[in-house]
Amino acid sequence: MPLGMLAVPAKYTLFTAHSKFSAEISDAMAPSPRCLGFLVALVCAVSVCFSTVSGGGRERGPITTNGGNYTKVCDPARFAAAGLDMAGFRYCDASLPYADRVQDLVGRMTLEEKVRNLGDRAEGAARVGLPGYMWWGEALHGVSDVGPGGTRFGDVVPGATSFPLVINSAAAFNETLWRAIGGVVSTEIRAMYNLGHAELTYWSPNINVVRDPRWGRASETPGEDPFVVGRYAVNFVRGMQDIDGRDAAAAVDPFSRPIKVSSCCKHYAAYDVDAWSGFDRFTFDARVQERDMVETFERPFEMCVRDGDASCVMCSYNRINGVPVCADARLLSETVRRQWQLHGYIVSDCDSVRVMVRDAKWLGYNGVEATAAAMKAGLDLDCGMFWEGVHDFFTTYGVDAVRQGKLKESAVDNALSNLYVTLMRLGFFDGIPELESLGASDVCSTEHKELAADAARQGMVLLKNNGARLPLSPKVNSVALVGLLEHINATDVMLGDYKGIPCRVVTPYDGIRKVVNSTLVHACDNGACDRAPPATVKTVDATIVVVGLNMSVERESNDREDLLLPWNQTNWIKAVAEASLNPIVLVIMSAGGVDVSFAQDNPKIGAVVWAGYPGEEGGTAIADVLFGTYNPGGRLPLTWYKNEYVNKIPMTSMALRPDAEHGYPGRTYKFYSGADVLYPFGHGLSYTNFTYASGTAASPVTVKIGSWEYCKLLTYKKGVTSPACPAVNVASHQCQEEVQFSVTVANTGGRDGSHVVHVYTVPPPEVDEAPLKQLVAFRRVQVPAGAAVEVPFTLNVCKAFAIVEETAYTVVPSGVSKVVVGDDALSMSFPVQINLAV
Ligand SMILES: *[C@@H]1O[C@H](CO)[C@@H](O)[C@H](O)[C@H]1NC(C)=O
Ligand SMILES: *[C@@H]1O[C@H](CO)[C@@H](O)[C@H](O)[C@H]1NC(C)=O
Ligand SMILES: *[C@@H]1O[C@H](CO)[C@@H](O)[C@H](O)[C@H]1NC(C)=O
Ligand SMILES: *[C@@H]1O[C@H](CO)[C@@H](O)[C@H](O)[C@H]1NC(C)=O
Ligand SMILES: *[C@@H]1O[C@H](CO)[C@@H](O)[C@H](O)[C@H]1NC(C)=O
Ligand SMILES: *[C@@H]1O[C@H](CO)[C@@H](O)[C@H](O)[C@H]1NC(C)=O
Repeated sequence: MPLGMLAVPAKYTLFTAHSKFSAEISDAMAPSPRCLGFLVALVCAVSVCFSTVSGGGRERGPITTNGGNYTKVCDPARFAAAGLDMAGFRYCDASLPYADRVQDLVGRMTLEEKVRNLGDRAEGAARVGLPGYMWWGEALHGVSDVGPGGTRFGDVVPGATSFPLVINSAAAFNETLWRAIGGVVSTEIRAMYNLGHAELTYWSPNINVVRDPRWGRASETPGEDPFVVGRYAVNFVRGMQDIDGRDAAAAVDPFSRPIKVSSCCKHYAAYDVDAWSGFDRFTFDARVQERDMVETFERPFEMCVRDGDASCVMCSYNRINGVPVCADARLLSETVRRQWQLHGYIVSDCDSVRVMVRDAKWLGYNGVEATAAAMKAGLDLDCGMFWEGVHDFFTTYGVDAVRQGKLKESAVDNALSNLYVTLMRLGFFDGIPELESLGASDVCSTEHKELAADAARQGMVLLKNNGARLPLSPKVNSVALVGLLEHINATDVMLGDYKGIPCRVVTPYDGIRKVVNSTLVHACDNGACDRAPPATVKTVDATIVVVGLNMSVERESNDREDLLLPWNQTNWIKAVAEASLNPIVLVIMSAGGVDVSFAQDNPKIGAVVWAGYPGEEGGTAIADVLFGTYNPGGRLPLTWYKNEYVNKIPMTSMALRPDAEHGYPGRTYKFYSGADVLYPFGHGLSYTNFTYASGTAASPVTVKIGSWEYCKLLTYKKGVTSPACPAVNVASHQCQEEVQFSVTVANTGGRDGSHVVHVYTVPPPEVDEAPLKQLVAFRRVQVPAGAAVEVPFTLNVCKAFAIVEETAYTVVPSGVSKVVVGDDALSMSFPVQINLAV
């Protein structure tokens, strides 16, 4: 999220080494040489390097937050210690509705006090008993300490469970898993909160769709399909936020529903260019058609808010069609808050407001004007990075914005209400009794580490397996483990971005060595694979080559230039394969797809496994898959293109559909029909074989168009006559029609295995510019060898058969759609006739 957060992880120890962060904050506010060193390094460690960092920050009082001194704001002893009587503060009266309490709290504050609480380092208002609060937390794939210090590891909590990167977990296509991960992460956060080592608000998950294979942040996301990304968001958010047995409250008032941890869907919207060919995310103006907004860019966010009931949405740095997202009232107030009914707050990406002025130079606005515009558009909280003496814009320019009449004070009150209602739901004021017993033993427990290992196993994707090269027999006498040392002994690479301190790290070497005692390690490098293949590969039973990328190639603020393996790895792998006694096994660590056509075609490369960045237990999972303790069932959550693809379309072209005028080929499995695919979306093999049978086929569906509805027009292919009623508008329809069917998945091979059933719909062929197909349901099922399981599906017609027509209405087309289960390797399909009855 923020500039260069990842490039200098070591620098964070400056903040995290301290036990009390009130001291760290005051240090950061009153600039010390140490702090300036940090900032210079931070700001200059990325591709966009700003000139000098000036000193002279605005003096501010230390932020006294939950440094382990108390577990709730409304504690009479806390007030008494400050010389206040809590009984006089209605906002602490737990018998009143949250709305009344928040109104009381905000009503007590002066304008200056209010404004000091609009930034990520909220100062509180000591005069009225309100403590400060550090809003910025990260928990992308486990509790992370990225950020200014709200979450801290140390003696009390040395580390937290580090799950696989999101792109791996996505590959598991298992919603139960996604929710379980969110549940464990929030348990660890709550435990750390009780110990005074964490706050309660986390800016995860990242749910931008991977529109282009070069995007540097693919590791953080659930891939290229908006539906999968949205389902990941819903499950992760529910795991983070929901408290067992407390959901009934939502029915009464969703603004009072207690939440375990606040989760935030980011970065809204159309944000997926970091730094590519002279473009960067601060100045990028994404030119997006409304159809693509609805169909692709907004969809995961809509699902996150409506179905996940996320308590936060973060707006991104970029502009969309000229307007900065964080100052776009149509996107924030109108869409997120009003249409999708957000019960929570909207935060800026860290510096989005500054970026409008400094980078985008939008409308020539100054700080006051940008502040007013963003808050009026619906932004509640400004996350900022200290730069040229200014931390965030809202706390710096908010008072002037009101005094100069550019912003109503009621807008400030409204933003604060959204923030404090969220904190009330989190128990910041009153505590949440059933979560207060969590402590150090609930972090990095055996159970949690096992879930991390399970997630890594479930996410492994078997891309190629010639002649059943895998699994290797656990009885093999000798293994050569070769490749770059940072992959073989991956202490760091497997943890990827937004990491914390893991409980431990099981490297591929550790995992394989546990199975085969005689595991000989030969690193190819010092920086690149420039050494000759080791002689041992000529004699060992199995050669395992671990290769891939790392964060120098794909990360925040750094998009990829090509899809190839860097550092001479391709040549080296070929040389190793040539020299090896037996066909080699290739294990790839990467987030984005890698063009390994050379491996797919080479008979001396027996098997290829995509291990992604599998988190702290990655080595165990890799060994379990290679030696058959676990039968892989993961599927690619994004298309693996051949490298030629990137020469055909610039990263900055936002459209998903092919563009004949520019010769662009289209993007993602939904629209790309060219020849440059190495492994399609959904690809993934198993050590066993599956077949499909269907007992039921759908009968035609009749959709009755009510008298209040209109038939919508559709664009048809040339020569096709439009029917009288081409389509029905989903927004005006009740949407109760369903298509039910079931698929029987039989395991015809010799091993138990899990199988992901992908269900796609294909729109009627006469409709122009429709997706080739679109995923509408999926389920991962475990099938014992020789057995079969029946997997039932119920598709809501408005959700599963809808398309987004040219002018961005979501409609169900009349005609014959198709349901396709599975992919090229294994599939079945049946037509679904949809009649619109006027
Ligand atoms: C790889 O890690 C193992 C143990 O984790 C260690 O014994 C070995 O020395 C490491 N290899 C190199 C070349 O650093
Ligand atoms: C593994 O091999 C080493 C020698 O390389 C030997 O000392 C050790 O006993 C072996 N361990 C097992 C479990 O076979
Ligand atoms: C990535 O790997 C290359 C080659 O081994 C190495 O030079 C570079 O330092 C690594 N980058 C990171 C961030 O680990
Ligand atoms: C790349 O690897 C090949 C095969 O080991 C080797 O012949 C070649 O010298 C290497 N090239 C560089 C630049 O290191
Ligand atoms: C499983 O599929 C493979 C091809 O992927 C085939 O060679 C093998 O015969 C099949 N086995 C069974 C039991 O169907
Ligand atoms: C899905 O994930 C859950 C939680 O990890 C696990 O218990 C279950 O076995 C997984 N399902 C399949 C079919 O692998």
